[in-house]
Amino acid sequence: MPRILSFARLGEPILYEKTPLIPDPTALEIQEAIADMLHTMEVRGPCFGLAAPQVFIPLRITIFSIPKVPHHSRYSYTPEYDPDGVPQTIMINPEITPLDDETTPGWEGCLSVPGLLGEVERYHSIRYTFQSPDGKTHTREAHGFHARVVQHETDHLDGILYTMRMKNLRSLTFSEENLKHRELFETH
Ligand code: NI
Repeated sequence: MPRILSFARLGEPILYEKTPLIPDPTALEIQEAIADMLHTMEVRGPCFGLAAPQVFIPLRITIFSIPKVPHHSRYSYTPEYDPDGVPQTIMINPEITPLDDETTPGWEGCLSVPGLLGEVERYHSIRYTFQSPDGKTHTREAHGFHARVVQHETDHLDGILYTMRMKNLRSLTFSEENLKHRELFETH
């Protein structure tokens, strides 16, 4: 039976550690960790992504998906790149290569930093490679919000939280207040 895992919040040491590469994605302990993460996401309710260290698992695994909706009150989707959204993707050992130097600011939140949003610069276009639980290697290109989510989740595997990427902490705001007064904090 998969377990419901508890969340590590800002200040837990595991969130600041770099996780090691997983030698065999098909290993039983990896499959069990993924099952626990999926179950936890189901119970916890919808979220864009979850990285294993956020649920106290020191492994190089993240799960994300981007639903098919043109707009979200908290985030700026980029349906021009992913009109059908991005289906649930389990990434083991993800690696990111920016396609160029262009960066764009956008809003981010995190289960490890509950209730808050902040504006973060990320590469607009990336290529990323990862292994799926069957051990196969996949390569994708991503732009806009899709690229942002992959960068955010992969950062978790290197001990980096979005707040550590913020150039100006002025935009670090509670999401309810942010939605009411966003124009005061948004640079894009
Ligand atoms: Ni996060």
